[in-house]
Parts: sequence; C-alpha cells; structure tokens
Amino acid sequence: MKGIILAAGEGTRLYPLTKTISKQLLPIYNKPMFFYPLQTLINAGIKDILIIISPKHAGDFLHLLGSGKDFGAKLTYEIQDRSDGLAQAFIIGESFIGQDNVAMILGDNIFEDNFALAVKNFKKGGHIFAKEVTDPERFGVVRFDSQGMATKIVEKPKKFLSNFAITGMYIFDNRVVEVAKKLKPSARGELEVTDLQNWYLKNGELKVDLVKGEWIDAGTFDALLKAGNWVKNQIEK
Ligand code: DAU
Repeated sequence: MKGIILAAGEGTRLYPLTKTISKQLLPIYNKPMFFYPLQTLINAGIKDILIIISPKHAGDFLHLLGSGKDFGAKLTYEIQDRSDGLAQAFIIGESFIGQDNVAMILGDNIFEDNFALAVKNFKKGGHIFAKEVTDPERFGVVRFDSQGMATKIVEKPKKFLSNFAITGMYIFDNRVVEVAKKLKPSARGELEVTDLQNWYLKNGELKVDLVKGEWIDAGTFDALLKAGNWVKNQIEK
C-alpha cells in the first residue's frame, strides 16, 4: 500500500495566517500540522509516501521533511499547480502509485485513531471513515440505512443529509487512478473526492467505518485552536 498526503490548496479560510505560510505547516501546539497526518500514515504501516504540495511552499516542505529518513519513511514530492480538487491527487500520483493500492490522507486532518488494521486487511474497493459531527455542512457527508450501510454521499450538502462527516483518510484500490481520470469537475470547479467514493458506492464496493476517538479537520480558526488544545491535553495526560 502506497500513501499520499495532500498538502497543497490555498488555505483561504485561514487568511492572513496562510498568506505566506502553508496551512499544513502552521503550528498545532508544538509541531507543524503536517506531522500529524504523516505520523498517522506511518503508524498505519505506510512508509512509501507521496507528498503533494503547491509550488509556492514546496521549498518549505523539503526543508522540513527532506528524504523522510528522520521519520523512518521514504518521501516523494509532486507539485499540484492549481487547486483543482482532491481527486486530482490520484492523477498526479499515477506513476508513484504504479500497480499498488493507495491510502490518501489530507494534510490538515488530525486523527487519534490508528488505521493499521484497516490497511492490513484491505483487499479491494474503497474504505472510508466517518465521524458524527454537529456541523456536517462543512464536510462530505454520508447517510446510513437502518442496517448501517452507506446509501448516499454528498459533498457539503445544502440540505441536511446526516450528521456523519467523511473524514480525510481514504483507502482505494488501484482502479482509483482510472476513475479519477474520468471525473468531470463539479459545479465548484473541482475534481471531488466524494465522486470517487460514489463510484465505489454505486459498485457496492465501498466500506464505511466510524473513526474512533478525536478527529479534527484543522482548516478553520476554531478547529486550529481546538486541535492545539487537544494535542496539549494529550501530552499532559
Ligand atoms: O476534512 C474532511 C473533508 O475534506 C471531507 O469531508 C470532504 O469531503 C473533502 O472535500 C474535504 O473538504 P474540505 O472543505 O476540508 O477541503 P479543503 O478544500 O479544505 O481541502 C482539504 C485539504 O486538501 C487541504 O489540506 C488542502 C488540500 N487541497 C485541497 C484542494 C481543493 C489540495 O492539496 N489541493 C486541492 O486542489
């Protein structure tokens, strides 16, 4: 299983913090945000990792992470020239992924959970992870039927769908590259990761589990503060 960390994007919701600094390099208490998703992949047993970054901040990432040797990982870098959407990662990552399956984590997502078992047991299809939240409109959202099976996935639904947000950790089989290549941009002009999930859902090949423990998408001021406090509390426990 290969790994991708998506850490490009504009970070406009965090302006002016992100005018000169990449969002994923902002501090979460005592470490750059990026260290958390990196550690999550490494803890899941994934050591061969592609980092997708914007041209503006590429030098900072290289400076901070280098070859990855210090983290026990092998890091490769690719540039995303424009923020054309999360699913583009699988097109940019095509040659890195090769014939393997791939786990992608978003560079601003902080997880308490450990995905080692999910990675080890993964065979085919897609496997995503949801979390009950009070503000689902901020996220991709999944609805479950009474048997707990996922029935519908919508990116930032305007009409209430459910309280289950889809977190930024995705495991897909190798077909994801070809599926991503066939996607059309959404109304907001992006290749949506939820469209990839819907492809697997329609094929009956999408597994949706709930994440355990804390999960924070640190992409807003409040979430950034919450993440810093959460890490501080974990350290002081
Ligand atoms: O955090 C989970 C959510 O992440 C999911 O529930 C949504 O389905 C998914 O679309 C995504 O929503 P966000 O609104 O949080 O996406 P955002 O635009 O903040 O991008 C997420 C990360 O990916 C962020 O670290 C920036 C990076 N990114 C984003 C885009 C659009 C890129 O590297 N390239 C891009 O083109």
